[in-house]
Amino acid sequence: MKKAKLHVLHSRDEIAERVRWLGERISQDYEGRFPLLVGILKGSFVFLADLIRHLDVPVEVDFVRLASYGDSMESSKEVRLTKDLEISVEGRDVLVVEDIVDSGRTLKELLGELARRGPRSLRSCCLLDKRHRREVPLEIDYVGFEMNEGFVVGYGLDWAESYRHLPDICVVETEETPSEECEPGEGVKS
Ligand code: IMP
Ligand code: MG
Repeated sequence: MKKAKLHVLHSRDEIAERVRWLGERISQDYEGRFPLLVGILKGSFVFLADLIRHLDVPVEVDFVRLASYGDSMESSKEVRLTKDLEISVEGRDVLVVEDIVDSGRTLKELLGELARRGPRSLRSCCLLDKRHRREVPLEIDYVGFEMNEGFVVGYGLDWAESYRHLPDICVVETEETPSEECEPGEGVKS
């Protein structure tokens, strides 16, 4: 298990407020529709679970799994679909829900693949956007927070599978300071 020193970037209350705001915007934009929300596993599961409870339009939910970072904090250059959808997107209003967008390759690849399957409309939503790190052109329709630096964990986001359970979004402090290492949760300061 990875150990790290963490500090809170977005508190649970701040996240809750932002997710509610996103839910309201999405509800307005999809009024009278029956969108299919596509969550990208694993990171988006907490965000998606909260987001759908702020929607007042009926929805369906499905998931895809894409090859991820593994144990590294660096963005992978190749993106692979390792679990496909079970619901057809053809003719549907599709909203892809992602935890965080970094280089943009993961989301861009998935949007390209889904577009080929003939949805009625195709949009994307992410909780966190590292916009300045973009390596491919990509506009995201609904963004929770923009962020500039660092690697974050919590609220579904992991570092080598650890820290997904933290209720706040925390920045991993990467300095090599072994004496300050801690178990998940212990280093979280508000
Ligand atoms: P991209 O393809 O470079 O945009 O990478 C997006 C994916 O990388 C996200 O779905 C996350 O799984 C992962 N990722 C990027 N930045 C972070 C981070 O700060 N914390 C945790 N995962 C991240
Ligand atoms: Mg992800």
